[in-house]
Amino acid sequence: MLLPIYLYGHPVLRATAEPLTAEDNNDELRSLIADMWETMEHSEGVGLAAPQVGESIRLVVLDGSALAEHYPECADSRMCLINPEITPAEDAQPVSYEEGCLSLPGLSETVKRPDKIHMSWLDENFQPKEGDFSGFLARIIQHECDHLIGKVYIDHISPIRKQLIKSKLNNIVRGRISCGYRTKSAPKK
Ligand code: NI
Repeated sequence: MLLPIYLYGHPVLRATAEPLTAEDNNDELRSLIADMWETMEHSEGVGLAAPQVGESIRLVVLDGSALAEHYPECADSRMCLINPEITPAEDAQPVSYEEGCLSLPGLSETVKRPDKIHMSWLDENFQPKEGDFSGFLARIIQHECDHLIGKVYIDHISPIRKQLIKSKLNNIVRGRISCGYRTKSAPKK
């Protein structure tokens, strides 16, 4: 089932997401994960975090495989992340690169992030996993994990840059956007 994607300005995107426990390993969760895959693929995203579909839990689906031609590190990167924990690698370098987000349609901004990370997480079967990631794949993971702590990528841009895109941000908050997927904007004040 396609789920609406919650837009920038909605409070769920600012909440700290709750970790999942073994008790959450049930059909309801499997159904949510399946819906998130479908929603991400339909909206042509490379990642989707549960808060973006209104669920404040530490769950992410991501797949950068379609970008593998330009970013070989993204080959076979289809992953479901439960309770991911990331740390920058010791030899990580800050790298600036363009990012976008399904919760901020029509916008992209340059964001500086470490180029290498280490991550531990549970897969969709609650099996523990660990790995090192670099390049654009490390960027996708960091972007999605930000959503789990109530952050969006524009929190990383300069105040001046943020001022320059203020009217665009206001339009998103008010739901004055058009995009090829269903969205849900902030409740009216
Ligand atoms: Ni995003």
